[in-house]
Amino acid sequence: MKPIEATPGASGKDPGEAVIHEYDGIQECDNQLPRWWLFTFWITVIFAAGYWYYYHSMQKGELASAEYARLKAEELAAEAERIQNAGEVTPDMLVTLSKNAATVEQGKEVFATTCVTCHEQGGKGNIGPNLTDEYWLHGSDPQSIYNIVRDGYLPKQMPAWGKPLGEMKVRAAVAYVLSIKNTNVAGGKAPQGEKAL
Ligand code: HEC
Repeated sequence: MKPIEATPGASGKDPGEAVIHEYDGIQECDNQLPRWWLFTFWITVIFAAGYWYYYHSMQKGELASAEYARLKAEELAAEAERIQNAGEVTPDMLVTLSKNAATVEQGKEVFATTCVTCHEQGGKGNIGPNLTDEYWLHGSDPQSIYNIVRDGYLPKQMPAWGKPLGEMKVRAAVAYVLSIKNTNVAGGKAPQGEKAL
């Protein structure tokens, strides 16, 4: 395997095509890179630096994943609003809301500020019953849960939330309760009431 001395290229015109090495029949030439290629290459290098600076260093641009998350959230919020504005509450509406992430998130916030004092984090129960088990005092179906949250049960100190929270927040809180129902959070309060079918 001896290196072969440079010989002119096959065409004989371009000295750049000279073969500078040949190993086992494979020739290595020393061609000049075409200008258009170099130009494109440098453009990509400059673009990459600019891209990195804009999106990552300065974090000015919105990356595709962030844009997707934003659009998805907007879409969910719009959907939630559409369902909420559909008029009178129905069990189907409540079930649909309980599957809408934006509404459940809103309900979770309502729950965290208004309900945790009695129902504890995640609804595992304290003064108020455990909302994550299969046992219910006032019914486990969406309409019954909505009724008790809106109207309360004063003889046993469950306040009525319809007035202080307003209809939309009550629906959101119910959507959240439906979303945590039957999750049987660890360390929850002992069951009260009837086992739901
Ligand atoms: C002051 C304490 C208190 C607060 C605050 C409170 N609850 Fe209650 N809640 C109770 C009590 C007590 C009961 C059980 C009533 C009974 O024994 O009949 C109850 C019952 C319930 C039930 C029915 C549970 C079942 O087993 O049928 C739901 C649903 C409920 N609460 C949701 C909520 C939501 C949602 C909020 C916040 C918007 C909230 N509660 C805030 C005390 C509270």
